[in-house]
Amino acid sequence: MTFTQTQKWLPLLVPCMPSPQELMPWLERMHMARHYSNFGPLVLELEAAFAQQFGSGVEQITSVANATQGLELVLQALNLPAGSHVLVPALTFVATATAVVRAGHVPVLADVDAQTWMITPEIARAVCERMCIGAVLPVATFGMPQDMHAWQQFELDTNVPVVVDAAAAYGSQWLRDAQGTLVFSLHTTKSLPAGEGGLVVSTRPGLAAKVRQLSNFGINFDPNASMPIGTLAGLGSNAKMSEYHAAIALVSLQKMELHAMQRRRLQKDFICEINQATDHRVAWQVQGTGGPLLAPTLLCASLPNAAVRFVLEQACQREHIMTRRWYQPLLQNMDVLQQRCLTLETPIAIALAQKLLGLPFFLGMTQEERHRVCNVIASAMSVS
Ligand SMILES: Cc1ncc(COP(=O)(O)O)c(C=O)c1O
Repeated sequence: MTFTQTQKWLPLLVPCMPSPQELMPWLERMHMARHYSNFGPLVLELEAAFAQQFGSGVEQITSVANATQGLELVLQALNLPAGSHVLVPALTFVATATAVVRAGHVPVLADVDAQTWMITPEIARAVCERMCIGAVLPVATFGMPQDMHAWQQFELDTNVPVVVDAAAAYGSQWLRDAQGTLVFSLHTTKSLPAGEGGLVVSTRPGLAAKVRQLSNFGINFDPNASMPIGTLAGLGSNAKMSEYHAAIALVSLQKMELHAMQRRRLQKDFICEINQATDHRVAWQVQGTGGPLLAPTLLCASLPNAAVRFVLEQACQREHIMTRRWYQPLLQNMDVLQQRCLTLETPIAIALAQKLLGLPFFLGMTQEERHRVCNVIASAMSVS
């Protein structure tokens, strides 16, 4: 048996979750309070911490069960006419589009920028000139922040609401004094892991409160509302965050800065090593005008072409290195979505989909593990 056959698989991602010991004091608090769900003390504490981080009022914040539900409920709360066209990038995770369909609308798939791999206000503006768009869902792709000032200007100019799918961008995507709506994921693989969880931040008056109500079945609990408490105010869902998840998020929050710094350092070193090993033949996502990627959670390489990617995938398989074609196939190539979406011309997204490849990236990744990846990329490049 060769060394390679016995080699342990190098994983793509390794969750960085709090230990049971770290969680215990929070779980004790939860148990003492006998409050396990329904906006309990830990969820309120977490939301207050988020409000402080975003420099916003607590009424502009609501926790949710996950980002997918967050996106769906924000779209519902916007009260768009049924069947509205909602612009989303073709290169994104499926949940961006499924949330639109589940909210009763039609995703319109747009192209992305060749450098940032993201939909931009310029791309959205050009589409809005050609067709009626009810809302735009830009994505903070692979955690790269969107420019909220530019999107605020877009909203002002077009009157089309913008909701940023910032699922992978906690710690990188901020409002930076702009008006806007952001939806984050607190999934295990994200920079602020809660196991499952989501966060909605919105300066749009009443939006976060509406999402909160919809996350609690749509029942009115506002004594100042025009209807009695307990009345069903809207067709909501159950998308509340539990106290268990809030406990994990609160512990994760304490380590957020340290972990973000370690993630940045790992990303910088690893990219540098790959560039050296490949004579700079790998391209990387470029920072846009939204600011730097402060808390990277994955590493996605843009290879010279589809043939190199194929050779590299095969080599990684042989060497027991996990890779993933993140966000692929493109949304328009998924049967379930195809009939439910309108697809615009997306030449850049199609070209990127030929050559993007996710590589192992996780806190605690050793230099030896990084060398393993570098070696395999260098040899794949040399044969293709
Ligand atoms: C762009 C994007 N949107 C939405 C989601 C879904 O987030 P969640 O798992 O919290 O529902 C993800 C998850 O990775 C994502 O990458």
